[in-house]
Amino acid sequence: MASAKFITFEGGEGSGKSTQARLLADRLQVRGIEALLTREPGGSPFAERVRALLLDPAIPAHGALSEALLFYAARADHLDKTIRPALAAGRWIICDRFSDSSRVYQGAAGGLRAATLDALERLVVLPTRPHLTLILDLPPMQGLARARARGTLVGGVGAPTDPFEGRDASFHEHLRKGYAALAKAEPQRCALVDATKPTDVVAAEIWALVEQRLLSGAR
Ligand code: TYD
Repeated sequence: MASAKFITFEGGEGSGKSTQARLLADRLQVRGIEALLTREPGGSPFAERVRALLLDPAIPAHGALSEALLFYAARADHLDKTIRPALAAGRWIICDRFSDSSRVYQGAAGGLRAATLDALERLVVLPTRPHLTLILDLPPMQGLARARARGTLVGGVGAPTDPFEGRDASFHEHLRKGYAALAKAEPQRCALVDATKPTDVVAAEIWALVEQRLLSGAR
């Protein structure tokens, strides 16, 4: 049996991560691999409480450092209570967003220095880094339109769901560039997937990547 793998999904708003994470879990199950689906911010009782604070549209203005520290506080508990125990028990993990979101939202787009995020990464995440990170890429305007059409938005259709969706166009462009840079810097861990394609085509590409990178040799 292959040892348990940790897979993360990343991308801008409305990139289809949650749908693709579910489809991948279903596909793994057909192969006899039980994966735990989890998300960030969240994934443990404490981290879900921090999520509610971070995504509250009424949260008072605050800096990127305060924000990053809260995301990493939630992450530390998520790793301790959910991710590490599951991996130790041989269970695969599929996580909808992880620390690359901090690098890109609070770092590349939010203005925090890479060295600050590297320090938090060492303190909180190591040695539990993802084996594979799937970055769903699409033009920000397309993703935001999708997210806003979902109809589940705080404030009704057309309103931002969370404080991040409502940021200006250049913030979302920086996110996309940040993710592209990450994929280039860490090609062995990260793969950029074209999320403008239909859901089933994206799912097939993701499955091919998982087979190639995590399952070949484990049959
Ligand atoms: P969520 O509703 O889960 O959005 P999405 O469907 O886009 O994943 O909200 C999570 C928001 O938090 C999202 O806008 C990205 C942001 N975020 C950060 O800014 N930093 C982080 O470290 C994480 C995990 C998320």
